[in-house]
Amino acid sequence: MPTVSLTVNGKAHTVEVEGRTLLVELLREQLRLTGTHVGCDTSQCGACVVHLNGDSVKSCTTLAVQADGGVVTTIEGLAAADGTLHPMQEAFREYHALQCGFCTPGMVMSAIDLVQKHPDGLTEEEIREGLEGNLCRCTGYHNIVKAIAAAAEVMHGKRSEIARAAE
Ligand code: FES
Ligand code: FES
Repeated sequence: MPTVSLTVNGKAHTVEVEGRTLLVELLREQLRLTGTHVGCDTSQCGACVVHLNGDSVKSCTTLAVQADGGVVTTIEGLAAADGTLHPMQEAFREYHALQCGFCTPGMVMSAIDLVQKHPDGLTEEEIREGLEGNLCRCTGYHNIVKAIAAAAEVMHGKRSEIARAAE
């Protein structure tokens, strides 16, 4: 069986996989990182998004062997060691950008990548376009968009913290 060596949330792992093993299966079933969800298994819903070498990828359609030698970040790897949430997580909480929470890990990972790739800021339209690959059945997206806009300001240093009173 092929062996995959990768770093996940700062920790090195070497695991045996089958050639057909998906990255999401490696994360959830072998490393027990179940914060990454599987919604559709067909690259449509975005519940499974993680970062691979700094880019968001749908881990339900990425083979584990494609991550060999790579650096993966999952939702479990975002908060600081003392429990301080990443600004995007904090914004989702503050702006009530989730209901059932099933889409949230993938939504947060996609949103962070989107913000990081737009250092000059994002319009509402760009945020909505950027979320095209992430489906949410609960929220109607409005509060998700507000949360991402607020987190973008903090991540780009235009504001020091997420507003306590969500607009
Ligand atoms: S589970 Fe991967 S896109 Fe839906
Ligand atoms: S919060 Fe329920 S699917 Fe998005």
